[in-house]
Amino acid sequence: MQLKYGLPTSLLGWAETHRAELAPPVCNASIFPDGNYIINMVGGPNTRTDFHDNPTEEIFLQLKGSAYLIIWDRGKFERIEIREGDVFLLPAHIIHSPQRPEPGLCFLVEMVRPLGSLDALQWYCAKCATLVWRAETQLTSLVDDLPKVYDIFYAKPEAERRCPSCGAIHPGRDHSTWHAQMNAAR
Ligand SMILES: [Fe+2]
Repeated sequence: MQLKYGLPTSLLGWAETHRAELAPPVCNASIFPDGNYIINMVGGPNTRTDFHDNPTEEIFLQLKGSAYLIIWDRGKFERIEIREGDVFLLPAHIIHSPQRPEPGLCFLVEMVRPLGSLDALQWYCAKCATLVWRAETQLTSLVDDLPKVYDIFYAKPEAERRCPSCGAIHPGRDHSTWHAQMNAAR
């Protein structure tokens, strides 16, 4: 018998073997890189300022630690808790920013993107929730493709990170400043 992806294996054992990749700055490793699904383990801690618009669904199985999603919905930020032991199916195109303030493990399943179904990364003004910048990409690897888009936004000068509505400067990758601005505005 030949099994392309091998025999059943210990999930927590796999996580232990890949502990270095699951820690900052990467926090994300592919368990089965070549299958019909994108199956990753996400570690932490990792807090961030980008929002993801996924054209397909995402399944979260939070194995260890707790996390939350900030959701942008019709001009407002909302929060969804994902506690240890929770399973959650996020519908396509719900604009979300995963926040993992503590070390943890999340088994994350996504679909391989059909050709022409584009992902987008977006950055919002923390003060008024207006879109500051959006970039679309044909995603083939969660681990490799998204950081390239992050780097483009975080290299932009202040003038290009200015909110078109209220004029506030988006702090880029400085998540503590962004989160403090959002919490102060709520
Ligand atoms: Fe703003």
